[in-house]
Amino acid sequence: MTEVVSWQRRPFPSGLAANAVHLWWVELSSRTWRVETLRSLLAPDESARAVRYAVATVQEKFVIGRGVLRLILGRYLRASPRHLRFAAGPGGRPELAAPGRPRGFRFSFAHSGSAAVCAVTLHRDVGIDLERMRSDLDFMAIAAGYLGPAEVVHLHRTAPSLRSATFYRYWTRKEARLKARGMGLATAAEHDCHAPDTALGLFDQPVPEPGYVATLAVEGVDHRISRWLATPTLLELSARTS
Ligand SMILES: CC(C)(COP(=O)(O)OP(=O)(O)OC[C@H]1O[C@@H](n2cnc3c(N)ncnc32)[C@H](O)[C@@H]1OP(=O)(O)O)[C@@H](O)C(=O)NCCC(=O)NCCS
Repeated sequence: MTEVVSWQRRPFPSGLAANAVHLWWVELSSRTWRVETLRSLLAPDESARAVRYAVATVQEKFVIGRGVLRLILGRYLRASPRHLRFAAGPGGRPELAAPGRPRGFRFSFAHSGSAAVCAVTLHRDVGIDLERMRSDLDFMAIAAGYLGPAEVVHLHRTAPSLRSATFYRYWTRKEARLKARGMGLATAAEHDCHAPDTALGLFDQPVPEPGYVATLAVEGVDHRISRWLATPTLLELSARTS
């Protein structure tokens, strides 16, 4: 696997090779994005979901995340971000709805705190998870209920000062794997979620902002992972985006 480690600000990738994994970091801040322009890109069900978030900042982050996801996917597909349609794939994994979905085009999206990350691939299952590390969580209790037995034992043996980071690493690895396979809560009971999935590679990701942990799960071998920072300039966001 070859990697370009930094997060690029430009140019927009000229294409998506069969072995490429493109990651996009999105700052969910109204200081960066024109929220109302992004809101205008949402489908009716997304707008309805947005207004159900009673806390204004939470609603804003949802609108920015979903709007920027549409901008990114629209650029790859040379399609209007407003006209993209999402559908639930296996296990509830979001996919682009046919017609217009190019064969093999996959994406995964995660958000936490004030950031989101999106992964894009061709013909390879992909899952990304992002977590902002919190100091107020009883993560040992969560680990006992959610992580595998070996991971829990390892956490107990880890120096207390390193436990939080280790917990978030295990957590994001697991969520990334589940998301790549579309194993959401709805299907969790049907699967052994601690069973190894040797067809998926797990790659801990560097993050451009401290305090976050991100892991990528991707099918196959010989990946080339590249990373971009999503900005209005790079995504050519203007008030006229159609
Ligand atoms: C659905 C789930 C993956 C979301 O994870 P989360 O940490 O709450 O939130 P994230 O920000 O990482 O991911 C959210 C995004 O994942 C995507 N997503 C939703 N369902 C998904 C699924 N079944 N598969 C893959 N991606 C999914 C969506 O793009 C969503 O974005 P949205 O909130 O804007 O709609 C998570 O709640 C879940 O179900 N995890 C599995 C838990 C489980 O099954 N545990 C038992 C052990 S097997």
